[in-house]
Amino acid sequence: MRVLGIETSCDETGIAVYDDQQGLLSHALYSQVKLHADYGGVVPELASRDHVRKIIPLIRQALAEAGSTPDDIDGIAYTKGPGLIGALLVGACVGRSLAFAWGKPAIGVHHMEGHLLAPMLEEDAPEFPFVALLVSGGHSMLVNVEGIGKYQVLGESIDDAAGEAFDKTAKLMGLDYPGGPRLAKLAAKGESVGYKFPRPMTDRPGLDFSFSGLKTFAANTIAAEPDDEQTRANIARAFEEAVVDTLAIKCRRALKLTGYKRLVIAGGVSANTRLRESLAEMMAGIGGRVYYPRGEFCTDNGAMIAYAGLQRLRAGQQEDLAVKGQPRWPLDTLAALD
Ligand code: KG4
Ligand code: ZN
Repeated sequence: MRVLGIETSCDETGIAVYDDQQGLLSHALYSQVKLHADYGGVVPELASRDHVRKIIPLIRQALAEAGSTPDDIDGIAYTKGPGLIGALLVGACVGRSLAFAWGKPAIGVHHMEGHLLAPMLEEDAPEFPFVALLVSGGHSMLVNVEGIGKYQVLGESIDDAAGEAFDKTAKLMGLDYPGGPRLAKLAAKGESVGYKFPRPMTDRPGLDFSFSGLKTFAANTIAAEPDDEQTRANIARAFEEAVVDTLAIKCRRALKLTGYKRLVIAGGVSANTRLRESLAEMMAGIGGRVYYPRGEFCTDNGAMIAYAGLQRLRAGQQEDLAVKGQPRWPLDTLAALD
């Protein structure tokens, strides 16, 4: 089975062709980062319009690179939610309509299921069950994953998502949008000088997160300290260490709770080097392993949507003819595949 995947939930147009025998045949990505940078964040209306402009050329490109014609495609998967409704509707309209025109089934994919399954695109894919730490710009959650669609959310952020905390703190430091990777780069030049950033909600039981206090702590530290490059790098490092430590503590708890030795990290923040290193060390300490997708599949992409959609299409699921987007969509309401 060969599936065309379409991702348009936020500020990246991602298109891919995935084949269950041959693997990933092509993937094309257009990032709107430059478009939104002047505004310091994603402007939903501009995002929708840019998806409209780019989606068809990218589909043509991905099909050509996969050596495929519409006849070779057995189904179309598009991100149905969660995300920005206007942006979602671009992918849903185009995906649903192309499937109708080509006489193929279509499936609406949950964006976070896409992230969660992204490590399956790699050679050394994890087996089920595992604990997944999903850390993106819109969500932070820990999930007990027993199989595709068998998701129990163990904890989630009660305020800012981890990526959002990175982006907001980066903005306070004068870094351009999206600040996460820029803050990480700055933090790499930082030294440990004893800033005492909190590890929110680690002093009580439970697996929920809260990151908005860290951003406030960073704001107060920035205001109290001299405004030079090395000081900013030191603060960035202390902030990053606080986020990473907090995530690691919660991951360890979730692994203890489930008894699993496999941890998957996915979503934009899983590209963070300090997080990967810290979790690798933690997992080695308990005789387990951490799995993550290659950098380009940590952030939004079409490949993860094609992969997740193929699993569901192959199991016989499909959308009716109505075009639907679902901006809010709890992960644990998805249908399980046997
Ligand atoms: O998964 P994603 O591409 O989009 C959403 O679904 O939200 O995640 C984007 C988020 C942004 O907040 C971005 O700043 C963050 O991931 N991010 C990072 C890094 N790379 C991307 N945060 C920290 N360190 C990184 N290296
Ligand atoms: Zn995402």
